[in-house]
Amino acid sequence: QGLTYTLNTGAVMPALGLGTFESNNDSDKVAVKTAVKVALETGYRMIDVAYCYGNQKQVGEGLEEVFDSNLVKREDLFICGKLWNTFHRKELVQTGLDLTLEELGVDYLDLFIMHWPVAFQPGPDNYPQDANGEWLIDNVDYIETWLAMEKLLETGKVKAIGVSNFNIPKLERLLKAAHITPAVNQCELHPYLAQNELIRYCEERGIHMMAYSPLGGPKSPRTLDDPLIKVIADKHKRPLAQVMTSWAIQRGTSVIPKSANPERVKANFVHFELPQEDIDALNELGKKHHRRHCDSFDMWGVVTFDDDPKDSGH
Ligand code: A2P
Repeated sequence: QGLTYTLNTGAVMPALGLGTFESNNDSDKVAVKTAVKVALETGYRMIDVAYCYGNQKQVGEGLEEVFDSNLVKREDLFICGKLWNTFHRKELVQTGLDLTLEELGVDYLDLFIMHWPVAFQPGPDNYPQDANGEWLIDNVDYIETWLAMEKLLETGKVKAIGVSNFNIPKLERLLKAAHITPAVNQCELHPYLAQNELIRYCEERGIHMMAYSPLGGPKSPRTLDDPLIKVIADKHKRPLAQVMTSWAIQRGTSVIPKSANPERVKANFVHFELPQEDIDALNELGKKHHRRHCDSFDMWGVVTFDDDPKDSGH
């Protein structure tokens, strides 16, 4: 289970980590602390967090307890954090990082990624909207944000920087202006949203692709409940989730399945070698179905599907 990828920085990252996306209620916050502890006891060494999930403090408490028990040290872990949309102005990027470090109680992140190629108006509200429910978009180019993120590398507080939810036109535009190629592009990827073109594009440029919602997310009908996934899982006597994460890892992406349930956290850590016929069948699935679980794209006007009309990259 110790499979790793090497990033374009030379850093090594585990192929499988714990996702911590949560709703904001109190029971979930307690659950995420336990999930972090169970994950690290199980052998996970990568954790994916985000400022906007509102639970970094609880993740930090889980980390602290595990560090105190001497089970793992900070340097044994690979922690991926995200710059939230309200910190996109160049003078706010460092603050966005510092708040994350403070909440987690760590000195550095192994990877810091721009959560979305969209800026929101700065302020205490993570999701600012006007009285009519219109998003308060801030007119900040993500290039400005990226160039400020590059400077964070000099502080030693981040070991690598990357992006998330970037499609090909946006990456193309970013790469023209960047001094540093993103180490990672983290996107929604699962059999119903395979994004083969984007994966090929990133692979050719040394950008590692990380799959969020590798189980297809919680909304029904769930990708996880597709009949083909059940057939393959039954054949190998494996849980459904292991089929999906194994497929993702075999296509060269890392995965961060989210679970706040200790038994599922443990089960999700296992992956196995799928035979080519099953890989082919899962690849075919995506041609029949096309479903994105994350609806922020539509809300904020971000285009990231392979087959969406090409945007200008802006
Ligand atoms: P829970 O936290 O109760 O386990 P994704 O990572 O694709 O976004 O999917 C996460 C969703 O899938 C969550 O609702 C999570 O719920 C659920 N989930 C996580 N692991 C499993 C599993 N092994 N089997 C079924 N559902 C799972």
